[in-house]
Amino acid sequence: MNHSLLRVTATAAVLLYAAAAQTQTGTAPAADSKIEARAEAILHQMTLDEKLGQLSQIFWYKGVPDDRIRKGELGSYLFLTDPQEINRVQHIAVEQSRLHIPLLIGFDVIHGFRTIFPVPLAQAASWDLDLNREIQSAAADEAAAAGINWAFAPMADIARDARWGRMVEGAGEDPYLGSKMAIARVQGFQGDRVGDAHHILACAKHFAGYGAAVGGRDYDASYLSETELHNVYLPPFHAAVDAGVGCIMSAYMDLNDVPASGNRWLLHDVLRDDWHFHGFVVSDAWAVYNLTAHGFAQGPADAAVRGLTAGVNMDMGSDTYLQNVPKLLDEKKLTLQQVDDAVLPLLRAKFQLGLFEHPYIDESKVDAILHDPAHLALARRAATRTAVLLRNDGKQLPLSKQIGSLAVIGPLADAQKELQGSWSFAGEPTDVVTILAGIRAKLGPNVAIHYAKGTTITRENQDNLNPDKLPVGVGSTETQQSDAAIQQAVAAAKASDQVMIVLGESDNMSGEYASRASLTLPGRQQQLLEEVVATGKPVTLVLVNGRPLDITWASTHVPAILEVWYPGTQGGNAVADLLFGDANPAGKLPVTWPRNVGQEPLYYNRNLTQVHEDSPKFASYYWDEPQFPLYRFGYGLSYSSFAFSNLKLSSTTMGADGIDVSIDVKNTSDRAGDEVVQLYTHQSYGSASRPSRELKGFQRISLSAGETRTVRLHLTPADISFWSPATHQRATEASTYDVWVGDSSAATDHAEFIVPTSMAQPE
Ligand code: NOJ
Repeated sequence: MNHSLLRVTATAAVLLYAAAAQTQTGTAPAADSKIEARAEAILHQMTLDEKLGQLSQIFWYKGVPDDRIRKGELGSYLFLTDPQEINRVQHIAVEQSRLHIPLLIGFDVIHGFRTIFPVPLAQAASWDLDLNREIQSAAADEAAAAGINWAFAPMADIARDARWGRMVEGAGEDPYLGSKMAIARVQGFQGDRVGDAHHILACAKHFAGYGAAVGGRDYDASYLSETELHNVYLPPFHAAVDAGVGCIMSAYMDLNDVPASGNRWLLHDVLRDDWHFHGFVVSDAWAVYNLTAHGFAQGPADAAVRGLTAGVNMDMGSDTYLQNVPKLLDEKKLTLQQVDDAVLPLLRAKFQLGLFEHPYIDESKVDAILHDPAHLALARRAATRTAVLLRNDGKQLPLSKQIGSLAVIGPLADAQKELQGSWSFAGEPTDVVTILAGIRAKLGPNVAIHYAKGTTITRENQDNLNPDKLPVGVGSTETQQSDAAIQQAVAAAKASDQVMIVLGESDNMSGEYASRASLTLPGRQQQLLEEVVATGKPVTLVLVNGRPLDITWASTHVPAILEVWYPGTQGGNAVADLLFGDANPAGKLPVTWPRNVGQEPLYYNRNLTQVHEDSPKFASYYWDEPQFPLYRFGYGLSYSSFAFSNLKLSSTTMGADGIDVSIDVKNTSDRAGDEVVQLYTHQSYGSASRPSRELKGFQRISLSAGETRTVRLHLTPADISFWSPATHQRATEASTYDVWVGDSSAATDHAEFIVPTSMAQPE
């Protein structure tokens, strides 16, 4: 960051915190000198081919010649998950290659390995940092047991457009929540430091701005202003770096017309110079080679120059470095020093991971760790803590276990693979407890359960959507069968006291390469829902999905709606726990829930720009949709109820030590439950307009029936600092600040404090 660019505006004195360039705790951990010496010693012995090998990662598939490993011309495999095969290739690397350098074995350990936990978006909905740590730690334990030493996670991309399929892989829309989640997840994967036993290297991805792909279309370019980058999209990555993440994955797309994987400003100036990142950068798959496709590099050789000089250490998948760098050195388009600089962090990571000392796994232990009952118990608990109760009219939930009959309806009610969500390649669908099975296990044989699938959902591919292809005709056999399936579901509902309908998206409808132009319930699910509701029976809608869906009709016609996301291996048991009151929902939305796809991108943390939000006219909204979202960021109900009172600040003037914010939270119900206490601030004036609300603190607490607790949250000057486009600097500005504390981003308990001009640093 260039301090000479600093200009303090006349309207706002600026309080600078040298350390406040990070809104997170601490700075990136420094390199260990012993490891540095070992890495350098080995680097000096390496031939060029061996160096380029270290820079290369290839997809594992049978038939890759072992000889390449033997010659030391491969640094890493991805997508190799078989423990025996991992041991076999590590033996070749360590015993038969000249310098005995072990392989990095990378894999998408996104929300579990064999045991599949709720998807990352769901994990964020728990607002429970310990839970996030525990999940990643269990996933790391399983992956490490199988020989994987590197996870391509966490995804730290902010996602503000539900059309973008990869929203499911991250922590949602908010930079503060996203940063806290990124830290917890890095700690979960890596433990206290890279190399902790039973842990693996984490890799924060996709650096940076991928979540802002135009129109929510995966792989499309992103255009982000300086202020959006610094205040919204970069903070979770910065937090991950400060937490010691060992790897950063560069993104696929263009960022402001410069591909992220060839972007020296991002990968060098920001990441290395400003943030002091000591790990290595891996490109996303083929992203170096594809620098040509962007219209950026002239060809593969130029792509290699661009990737390497920008700061991509490892080329994922394409061997572009391996194939082009020797000639580039001859032509003096690259120097050996540049190659060495790229190799060193990779060797360092292998030493940090302890791979030189412990390259192999004990195959006899794999099975027990992959089936650890503690992991299954955690998966069940996690899926109860990540669910969000969106509606519970007339306290329909929890249901009594003493009901006579229950209809369980929907294409996702008895689904296994679909409950896992995307990126579950090492999971075993047959391990998954379906929602129907969970309910059956919970209720036992005395309750009559009428199951009907109702309809089938499949992801249409573009060929099927081809307008030249004739639609299925009215009266065709296919349509008749589909109509009959809906009528069977209606009959099941009519025959039952209570109705549970499980709708949403199958696992391949959210994730990479899964952007959508609409947010409606796919297929005939909406019709199924409406016909089932028309029976007049009490209906509970359980949603399985990876993004907010258009449930505006359901939000007024279905009394109870429980969002369970993709809940994973133990999903069915957890959903049954929640529906029948053995667990009490307390998750809160990590994304704003739109009424209609046309509102996207939609997020709470936005500038008002002209008029107050409550203004009936001239507010920023569409005339054909209500102004507010269907459900706000941070929203979620519980079977308990809570009251907030007595909001207090330790001072109305913020000093260098910050301010304590306290509030009393009372469980006003007769049921123990959790509440997520959320703190939002707003800077009233300054060198730039600031969002109407920004999350700056939260805490999930458990309260027994009738219990009152005083919750204390701390606000520091760094917490309220921001990157000003007027000063090109992060600063805490002198201003008046609003504080709201409550149970969602619509919190109403309010206080104010100031940061005085006397604390401003001279220009
Ligand atoms: C492409 C995806 O964008 C990235 O997230 C993933 O880690 C790699 N492929 C490897 O599977």
